[in-house]
Amino acid sequence: MPRRNSPASGPPKGTQLLYSAQPGPQLAAMESTAEEILYGGAAGGGKSYWLRMFLVNYCMQYPGARVVLFRRTFKELEDTHISMLLQEVPSWVAVYSVGSHEFRFENGSTLLLRFCEKEVDVYSYDTFEADVMAFDELTAFSEFQYAYLSTRCRSAKPWWPGRKILSASNPGNVGHEWVKRRFIDYVQPYEIKRGPDEEGGYLRQFIPALVSDNPILMKYAPDYVKSLQALIGAGHEELYRAKALGDWNVFTGQFFSRWRPSVHVVPYFVPPPDWLRYISVDWGIAAPRSIHWTARPPGTSTFYVYREQYGPGVATTEQARQAREITVAAQEKIQWVVCDPAMWSKGKDAHGEVLRSNASYWEEEFAGICSVIKGNNERVQGAAIFREALDWVGIETESGIQVDVKPKLMFMTSCPNAIRTIPSLVHSQLNPEDVDTDGEDHAYDDLRYFLRSVIQAPAKKAATRVIIDNKTGRVVVVAA
Ligand SMILES: Nc1ncnc2c1ncn2[C@@H]1O[C@H](COP(=O)(O)OP(=O)(O)O)[C@@H](O)[C@H]1O
Ligand SMILES: [Mg+2]
Repeated sequence: MPRRNSPASGPPKGTQLLYSAQPGPQLAAMESTAEEILYGGAAGGGKSYWLRMFLVNYCMQYPGARVVLFRRTFKELEDTHISMLLQEVPSWVAVYSVGSHEFRFENGSTLLLRFCEKEVDVYSYDTFEADVMAFDELTAFSEFQYAYLSTRCRSAKPWWPGRKILSASNPGNVGHEWVKRRFIDYVQPYEIKRGPDEEGGYLRQFIPALVSDNPILMKYAPDYVKSLQALIGAGHEELYRAKALGDWNVFTGQFFSRWRPSVHVVPYFVPPPDWLRYISVDWGIAAPRSIHWTARPPGTSTFYVYREQYGPGVATTEQARQAREITVAAQEKIQWVVCDPAMWSKGKDAHGEVLRSNASYWEEEFAGICSVIKGNNERVQGAAIFREALDWVGIETESGIQVDVKPKLMFMTSCPNAIRTIPSLVHSQLNPEDVDTDGEDHAYDDLRYFLRSVIQAPAKKAATRVIIDNKTGRVVVVAA
């Protein structure tokens, strides 16, 4: 049902200005020739305004255009963009349809407002196409969602100027790590550089935004910056740096804050034959499946994750078969396979017939090789054990880390998805002792089942303490 945004009057005489870009980053982002842009940084930098301005302008410039604006949840869309668009765009330009969440322009263009809450929600966009895609608060999305949805930016329209994927974001949130890696670490501010082919090969640009780049806000809400400063007073300096300064080097809320690539990632080697070996499995077809092989020198509690099979779209039978094949080919003796306990549940088909459980395929493939056991899915204890397994003792300075006691759990370079996703997990908003499941947590999950299967005792308190050496200013980590 279409709803009128503002009184249905005809177009006013003369012209009416709907949006105008402020000089600086907003104007640069409007005029950019890059195909994939992150306008990122401080809260209040005019990021969301830029996205709406770009999309409305595009719709008016190209009759028949179809553009989409994503946020992770519908509530966030409603609270920000929909209500703002209803104020900014008069109904003689475009009419909002409440039922289909879209603005229909009088020239035939459409601006769709969409959300993508769960990882697997991306599949509902399989037949979708848009001329321009925009993501607001990009760090709320997972890398998988962004990569998958971006493939829907395509068009066969003769006037199409080409791919355009626009994002706006503060630092922080579940996507902080991948967004930082993709944009901030990849290009200098304002530089335009082609991204790797495996990431779509887009011309990529990062445009930093500060509150001071939005003089309109500074003029009408001068206390806004002060309200952000209150975060420091409340002891959240990191949050202040992220929100007010748009500082991507602070990462608020990282769950495994002791993760250091130079400590946890080791070059690949073939574990000696007498090491004990284990396989851990987090099932997935729509979402990525995650399978890891871990080896442990006998008599120790040190674990090296040495092999990985990861990604969506592989049938359950194939997942188990591929895992057995590589294990048998390498002539490895496995202690056990530990799986997500949900893999033992049985669904029903359309005729009410009970289907085989996912675990049964693993039991079949590994019959005669080793047992297949149910993982323990107590989340908070699992998270505590995982954190303890990543903990280490040593001295960390600007010039490097000297490790005295290595972590229990280390990752060989042959496991890029575990190395990519585990450090990016953040605390759950609902329970700070748990990991936020909106992040890409599949590798974490299977290795959590693994750790629970070998470390039975509840986790001890963290074995280390961080102190700052007042004389040298060095951060020193000591055994507690
Ligand atoms: N070019 C502009 N013209 C007028 N108002 C603007 C402009 N850019 C931003 N604003 C206003 O400044 C405020 C903050 O902008 P917003 O885009 O919501 O910031 P961010 O998304 O970066 O936090 C909003 O009220 C917005 O309408
Ligand atoms: Mg915003």
